[in-house]
This record gives sequence, structure tokens and C-alpha cells, in this order.
Amino acid sequence: MTSRVLTKGILIVIEGIDGAGKSTQAKLLYNDLDRRNIPVIFSREPTDSEYGQKIRVLAQKGRESIQPEEEYRLFVNDRKVHVHTLINPALKAGKVVILDRYFFSTIAYQGALGLDPEKIRAENEIFCPLPDAAFIIDIPTKIGIDRIKNQRNETPNLFEKEQYLENVSRIFDSLNDEFIVRIDGKGGVEEVHNRIRIHVDALLENQFQTVIE
Ligand code: TYD
Repeated sequence: MTSRVLTKGILIVIEGIDGAGKSTQAKLLYNDLDRRNIPVIFSREPTDSEYGQKIRVLAQKGRESIQPEEEYRLFVNDRKVHVHTLINPALKAGKVVILDRYFFSTIAYQGALGLDPEKIRAENEIFCPLPDAAFIIDIPTKIGIDRIKNQRNETPNLFEKEQYLENVSRIFDSLNDEFIVRIDGKGGVEEVHNRIRIHVDALLENQFQTVIE
């Protein structure tokens, strides 16, 4: 019997402001690869580590109670756990790893709170594997906020204020690494999925080897 395996792990990141549709797109991509018997896992940040749980509690309670630097530490510590326990082992095992948010969110969101984006990047790049592709789903801030209000039936929390998200968006716009792929987030869910899929298929091409068992 023969089976198809990847010659190396592949890291795919989905980024964007709140309401951009990252989570929906990450799941659609996961299902698509899984259906094609490609070894794939999905994960998200913040995670459910002790640090990630603290972040979620703070997001609900209000960020005024915490300094940006202290909040930044929580995101970095959460990511260290994530990289060591899940991301690196899965990449080593030759899987496709799909992440809903990664350190580009820290550059953009904590950068928009006044921390230095270049310092954030440098500290994260010490322990974070770089992605093969980082999709930034682009939508106007106003659409993101409206989607949160309408679809989730909730008022945007403190992470999601319009002016703040404008600044976050501007930092996402400034990222220009060779693995960044900007995706137009307007239009239907399937339409956006297809835009992402074209790039992922190109990325996966030639990454398979046939194994005789
Ligand atoms: P997320 O889980 O994507 O939000 P949701 O509640 O919609 O599922 O992320 C929670 C918030 O955390 C989001 O507003 C972005 C913010 N965030 C940062 O500020 N820095 C980071 O490094 C990450 C990963 C997220």
C-alpha cells in the first residue's frame, strides 16, 4: 500500500482584526485539508494555557487593570507554551499546522498600545518558527465591528474598539515579510476560502512524497 506524506511540516497562520473572519476561514481550511487526507491540526491563540486563561479573563474585565507591558508578557508566555508543546512537535511530525492568530497579532495589537513593534518581533522570532504563509484577512474596521455586533450578538469588548482596531489594522498593513499574503476579506465565506485555498494548494504542491508501506 502507498500513502502520501509531507516532506516537512508546514505552518500556516491566519491573521486579521476582530471580525475579519479568521476563525471561520481557519476552520474551513482545516476541513478542506483533512478531507484530502493531508495530516493537519488546528490551533488558536490565546490558548487555554494558564496565561491564555488570564488573558481571556482580563479581556472581559477590562484592560485598564493591566499595563500593556504586563499584558504583552502574558501573550509571550502563552505562545512559548504553545510553540513548545504543540506547534514544534506537530511540525516535526510533518503536519500542516493552521493557527488562528500568532505573533503578528502581538506586533499589531500590543504595538497599537504603544509597545515597539520591532522589539516585539525580535523577541518572538527567537522562539517562534516562521510561517510558510501568513494570511492577513483584510476588511475595513467598520465592517469588522458591524460583524461582531450583528453575528455574535454582542457589543465589541475592550479589545475591539474602533479607533484601536484602526491602529491595529495599520500595523498589519505595514507587515511585508515574504510569507505575508493579503486576502480580501469582503464577500462570501466561500469566496474568501477559495482565495486562501489557491495559495495553500500552491504551497503544498511538490511537498508530498509517496511512501510504500
Ligand atoms: P481571539 O480569540 O481571536 O478573539 P475572539 O474572542 O473573537 O475569539 O483573540 C482575543 C483578543 O486577543 C483579540 O481581540 C486579539 C487579542 N490578541 C492580542 O492583543 N495579542 C495577541 O498576541 C493575540 C494572540 C491576541
